[in-house]
Amino acid sequence: MEKQNDQSRMDRIVSLAKRRGFIFQSSEIYGGLNGFWDYGPLGVALKRNVKDAWWRDMVAGHDELATLAGAPSPYEMTGLDCTIIMHPQVWKCSGHFDLFHDWMIDCRESKRRYRYDHLHGRWAAHRGKNVFVTTDQSGDDAPPDTVAKAQKFFGLRAKQVDEIEWTGGLESLQAAITAGAVSFADALGPDASAPGTLTEPREFNLMFETRIGALAGDDDDRAFLRPETAQGIFVNFKNVLDTSRVRVPFGIAQIGKSFRNEITPRNFTFRSREFEQMEIEFFCKPADSGAWYRYWRDRRWKWYLDLGLTAGRLQLREHHADELSHYSVGTADIEYAFPFLAEGEFGELEGIAHRGDFDLRSHMEGKLVRQEGALVVEAGPDGKPRHKGSGKDLSYFDDITRERYVPHVIEPSAGADRGVLAFLCDAYHEDEVPDEDGKPRSRTVMKFHPRLAPVKAAILPLVKKDGMPEVAIDLYRALKPHMACQYDEKGSVGRRYARQDEAGTPWCLTIDGQTLTDKSVTLRDRDSLVQTRVPIDDVVDLLRDKLA
Ligand code: GAP
Repeated sequence: MEKQNDQSRMDRIVSLAKRRGFIFQSSEIYGGLNGFWDYGPLGVALKRNVKDAWWRDMVAGHDELATLAGAPSPYEMTGLDCTIIMHPQVWKCSGHFDLFHDWMIDCRESKRRYRYDHLHGRWAAHRGKNVFVTTDQSGDDAPPDTVAKAQKFFGLRAKQVDEIEWTGGLESLQAAITAGAVSFADALGPDASAPGTLTEPREFNLMFETRIGALAGDDDDRAFLRPETAQGIFVNFKNVLDTSRVRVPFGIAQIGKSFRNEITPRNFTFRSREFEQMEIEFFCKPADSGAWYRYWRDRRWKWYLDLGLTAGRLQLREHHADELSHYSVGTADIEYAFPFLAEGEFGELEGIAHRGDFDLRSHMEGKLVRQEGALVVEAGPDGKPRHKGSGKDLSYFDDITRERYVPHVIEPSAGADRGVLAFLCDAYHEDEVPDEDGKPRSRTVMKFHPRLAPVKAAILPLVKKDGMPEVAIDLYRALKPHMACQYDEKGSVGRRYARQDEAGTPWCLTIDGQTLTDKSVTLRDRDSLVQTRVPIDDVVDLLRDKLA
């Protein structure tokens, strides 16, 4: 059985992603830019298919007259496309300006910067010398990294590493410092040669800052690239209500770029500085919000399964009370066991949060804080609101029940790039197939769900003569208006199958000698390798049905 969690498997996935044009490092010819990624020809199609599947399943294809399984009632869905740069007050009221930060520490020696919560370490001793060796590696890579660092620090040869005495296992540096078990003077930084070079932790706001206008200079010109698409939806809540016929309960969806100046972007595209989100803000009556939260949690979980992610590698995790944001009544994460994580660890694909009335109230009244269990406007030193809201009325009036209330919000917030990465990792398979002479040949095959596959079908004339290319080109032209397909006549048919397997193309159609006599083609299934003969005139309808 293939081992699913290991760095070498991840390395092979990253290498295929580059070799086949799924994902490239941004600005690669200049050495790349950490935390930024470009999608190549196959990648852009895969990502578009993920976003299109989300939009179709959640918004465009939504039946607002039906009560869907698990939903408390019918509901409406609509969409928005908001700007990346918004009024700076948006981020002050949302809390991002004051609170959206990570703790970072710097190394005075190596000049490297680390996320405090990403550093782990353990005590090592050799001939009376003790040091707390830290690493910024994660998963299975972390323990050997501390061994290598301790060996270097103590000046040992490889055969002497067993002389190092270790106390306890790897623990979080943050936890060890907080517990008083370690001091910064004891800690050997991940890239340092001596202990005591790590600085005290400092807050680092993750929002990218920019300036508006040619004469930008003073504080009033400061603006931020949005760190989430959600706020554009909240500040347009009234516009949507006033200009469309939606009634609560309803959802507003948005797909778009978000930016976070992550201290340590890592694990391929998993933690990037520029990425896309697919977010829904679902507005409902406060009394029904618990039922809607459960509906959206289960609905979003099922979406990943329906698109083929392996159930055993997915996890739905409800947050513990102490993990919840200060405004959240309940949150669940949908997580995937990415191969770069240690066995048993999962990485977040999507969060489904019950946000109560926090967001709409913040944009009405000003930045809120929780005091004695209630959300109140945070006061500044002068007793006035620390960050003033818009003052606009964002409440909802139900003209049937004659009730007025501030709707509660359920927010399913997914990362498009994280989704793509999970679909890439899950699709990656290495197996053996018989070649043209019946001998086993190893193949790499991307088993994407057909809806997500960048190319749905390849049309291959067996040979470049005898009228086969002409028939194949006619079939290609018949299929192209309905789905992404490719015509390929270069190389042996075995090599062409191999190319399509790596691209994840679910079906190959081969035009051979028999086609010319009985107008049938072979349809090869990527996963089962079963080849069936089908009438050429039925191909378009057959594949369209399979994709429906
Ligand atoms: N509006 C809520 C919100 O933004 P979040 O958990 O911070 O919540 C939602 O982000 C999703 O966005 C995550 O589940 C993840 O899929 C994606 N995401 C967040 N930060 C990311 C990053 N640095 N790189 C790639 N995707 C990221």
